[in-house]
Amino acid sequence: MKRESSMQEITAVASPSLALLKYWGKQDGGINLPATPSIAVTLGGLESRARVAFAPDGTGDLIVLNGREQPPHHFAPMLNELRQLARDDRGFVIESSNNFPTAAGLASSSSGFAAVAGAVARLLGLPTEPEQLSPIARIGSGSAARAVFGGFTLWPAGASCATPLHPVDFWPELRVVVVTVSAGAKSISSRAAMEATRRSSPYYEAWVRDAAALLEDGIEALASRDLEKLGVIMRRSYMRMFGSMLAADDPILYWRAGSLNALLLCEELRGRGIQAWETMDAGPQVKILTEESSVELVLEELHAYFPEKTPLVAAPGPGLRFVE
Ligand code: DP6
Repeated sequence: MKRESSMQEITAVASPSLALLKYWGKQDGGINLPATPSIAVTLGGLESRARVAFAPDGTGDLIVLNGREQPPHHFAPMLNELRQLARDDRGFVIESSNNFPTAAGLASSSSGFAAVAGAVARLLGLPTEPEQLSPIARIGSGSAARAVFGGFTLWPAGASCATPLHPVDFWPELRVVVVTVSAGAKSISSRAAMEATRRSSPYYEAWVRDAAALLEDGIEALASRDLEKLGVIMRRSYMRMFGSMLAADDPILYWRAGSLNALLLCEELRGRGIQAWETMDAGPQVKILTEESSVELVLEELHAYFPEKTPLVAAPGPGLRFVE
């Protein structure tokens, strides 16, 4: 029976979850339980693809990401949870790749873990509805709890899973321009940076309190598809998140000179009446929310600062899916 099923192979694809309001910090009492509520959009066109099969009898997990073998302990808590749910102790061979830079603040862990959670669940014959996968993907990486869903999601503070807020076609004109300021891997993982912020930043508690207070306005601005209103709230969220990081001991600084140039450009564009609202995550990349009608202009302006870069342009995208 086992030999038969070891021939079986499942491929799942997921897209990264870009937080508009940020998850930064964990609560005690569970794995990756968020201290702050987050709201996010899943980015279409950017993809993590995971191909999984059972490992040969008696061998453990083998995980290869973009051609590089990964330490299995990163994946063990999530894979063990799946094994336990299915009462199946076999190992997995997992091959995952991204069509965008890995570990550079583009939330590749969100799509990567979402795709692996989905593919392994299907291989094991477990349910693969996003609602059921969200709390499992979360064990791999918090933001993956959101990436199993398409469109817009909410992940409340302390919640074991994310929930859908709006479907993928809710805001068809919305675009996210991703400026890859630096494609190198980040100096400190979001996980380690989050923990260092919680442990050592005198601003951490203020950040957590403030993030909770931003939520209602964020949900409302998104519901009314008001980019200016949402942009102001997004900016509070990411700036205050970085404020808490800067105050950590040692300070955590993901920004590069190019990041700041992109931020200043957005400010200048807004001064000219163009809705261009940036956000950043645990890396130097800048993601600019704008409307479809302004994308060309935003790209032209970016070209002057970053002549050698071709920014990616994403629209809200679908959740986890399977390749037959
Ligand atoms: C800045 O989900 O990568 O992108 O749960 O430790 O795996 P772990 O962290 P991760 O952190 C994401 C942080 C963020 C903000 C966000 O996506 O909400």
